[in-house]
Amino acid sequence: MTQLINKKLEENSSKEPNAILSSKKVFKINWDVEIPSFSKKDSYVPQKDENYIFEEDTTKAIIAGFKYNRRVMIQGYHGTGKSTHIEQVASRLNWPCIRVNLDSHISRIDLIGKDSIVLENGLQVTKFKEGIIPWALQYGAALVFDEYDAGRPDVMFVIQRVLELEGKLTLLEQNRVIVPHPSFRLFCTTNTIGLGDTSGMYHGTQQINQGQMDRWNIVATLNYLPEKIELDIILAKSENFLKKFNKNELILMIKLANLTREGFKNGDISTVMSPRTVITWAENSFILDDLDYAFRLTFLNKCDDAEKSIIGEYYQRCFAKDLPESWTHFSATTSLIEK
Ligand SMILES: Nc1ncnc2c1ncn2[C@@H]1O[C@H](COP(=O)(O)OP(=O)(O)OP(=O)(O)O)[C@@H](O)[C@H]1O
Ligand SMILES: [Mg+2]
Repeated sequence: MTQLINKKLEENSSKEPNAILSSKKVFKINWDVEIPSFSKKDSYVPQKDENYIFEEDTTKAIIAGFKYNRRVMIQGYHGTGKSTHIEQVASRLNWPCIRVNLDSHISRIDLIGKDSIVLENGLQVTKFKEGIIPWALQYGAALVFDEYDAGRPDVMFVIQRVLELEGKLTLLEQNRVIVPHPSFRLFCTTNTIGLGDTSGMYHGTQQINQGQMDRWNIVATLNYLPEKIELDIILAKSENFLKKFNKNELILMIKLANLTREGFKNGDISTVMSPRTVITWAENSFILDDLDYAFRLTFLNKCDDAEKSIIGEYYQRCFAKDLPESWTHFSATTSLIEK
């Protein structure tokens, strides 16, 4: 197994971008640059989503990351397309790309590696098993740290070492220094901007050390998009929806999502509908054959009981109909016994 990995590493160590793509043509954005890419893809290149819609500013930042080896952080509310934007740009460039979720269980050892006992020619021997960072550094892959603001402090300091462009990694365990492959790239996505959870929405996130924030060369923000673009995204994603419902209903669903976002900003409610929620609502409507009930199961049941009546009002404003009172009013129950 180790031999196989080493063989793959050797094969790739001579591999550098060997083709050029036009950003305007491939991503349909208003920025015309030539982007280095690979003519062939390997098994680490993410799967292409043909219907993906590239948001201009975010895509520019990611392209700059790939082309000029910049460290790019994408920040924004949940479900707005941060992780998939990086993945989909990589898929167009045939660039190997690995996503790592930096949840609070990821430890320093997972990232760097550890000694482990392996069987070699029938004998048990201790060998150093590399973690994901040494692997990506040598393979020349793009490494994406998702939920970067949820990482544990000890883990963050490991990443700090590779954040610098020349970022060599010293493996103390092995007395070895790893020089990054020229195609190694580093990205991260976060919900907060490194100042901790100021909105109360992102429990479990931490403040990010300013020394680390300073090392990210580009910080792009991807929040909610204009209605028209969100409509295009959801139409592209939920093909089935239009088999049973119509486009106007989808427009109203997005309007409702925007009302929850406004309501959240004004402090009226504490749960917001992300584009991901709208996609899921559209899919659930197809599955359940019922827009209202799908809304209840997709979003309403995630809301605080005290706020359900406000959400019911938003629904009324968009769809001109009331949701059943027992859904939106905590105390309202339908009695089966006639008085
Ligand atoms: N521009 C887009 N084109 C097509 N689909 C999109 C687009 N943006 C988002 N999506 C879809 O929305 C969903 C959420 O996207 P993604 O997981 O990238 O969000 P995220 O911002 O990383 O969320 P989180 O902060 O929760 O990690 C995915 O199913 C994705 O395919
Ligand atoms: Mg994500």
